[in-house]
Amino acid sequence: MQLRSKDLLGIEGLTEQEITLILDTADSFREVSERSIKKVPTLRGRTIINFFHEPSTRTRISFEIAAKRMSADGINFTKSGSSFSKGETLLDTVLNLQAMQADLIVIRHAVPGAPGLIARHLDASVINAGDGPHEHPTQALLDMLTIRRNLGSLKGKTVVIVGDIAFSRVARSNIHGLVTMGARVIVAGPPTLIPMGIERLGVEVSYDLDRVIPEADAIMILRIQLERQGKIFLPSLREYSRLYCLTADRLRQARRDVLVMHPGPINRGIEIDPRVADGDRSVILDQVANGVAVRMALLFLLAGRKEMTMNQ
Ligand code: CP
Repeated sequence: MQLRSKDLLGIEGLTEQEITLILDTADSFREVSERSIKKVPTLRGRTIINFFHEPSTRTRISFEIAAKRMSADGINFTKSGSSFSKGETLLDTVLNLQAMQADLIVIRHAVPGAPGLIARHLDASVINAGDGPHEHPTQALLDMLTIRRNLGSLKGKTVVIVGDIAFSRVARSNIHGLVTMGARVIVAGPPTLIPMGIERLGVEVSYDLDRVIPEADAIMILRIQLERQGKIFLPSLREYSRLYCLTADRLRQARRDVLVMHPGPINRGIEIDPRVADGDRSVILDQVANGVAVRMALLFLLAGRKEMTMNQ
């Protein structure tokens, strides 16, 4: 089986079979990172360009590591130091990258839809590494892999997503993926950070975190986007923390085997207590490890697809 599209632009629209294919492939690549020589020759000769218009630690570095572990030639490219400052457009930039025979472009961009725009103009594959508040598909895939590896499956599991649902690409991608995979999703947070009508995506809404914590198999804490402070979404950070910070006291109301998740970067003491972030229910660093495997899987399934088609 192959993915239907040459690109991964979002989780919305992926089938259960496609998500399962990506997670199964990632599971098989996890073992490579545990070897003393962490490398397979699978993508030798392929050129992968990581093009990050916004800051990133986890996503950018794990794509770089994934390309190296697959023996691809990885090129890293950020906005600063490029010809953007001379007025070159996004589309002209990526057409130039394609002219240099890039096989796959990974892009993070502040504008929702930017990866989709370039994908329509390129023969090369495109992976969305986060586009504004729209989608962050590789984050959702690594989150789903983490839940599946820890709890055995996604079907029937209750995942509570807490915080800034309105502006979170992580929440949006996870909602699409988890609902497609048969999980029950509850979004929790202040009314100002939960969009009206979000139930249409198949989720339940709660403004009372304490009420839903006991139902959770996994609690996914979102970063409060401090760069948005000063806008009207929260009365104060102290008020937010009082009601929605995942503290050790709150965690005591949860199942003993609940998973505590966070995509990072963490604001310690605001959305999550440091003792909980570092505690025995936390799988936050597991998520990071699974991120490398998911990105290896996607490079294999997309950059390797020409070869897979020729071999069929
Ligand atoms: N989770 C995530 O996207 O982190 P970075 O912004 O560091 O890539």
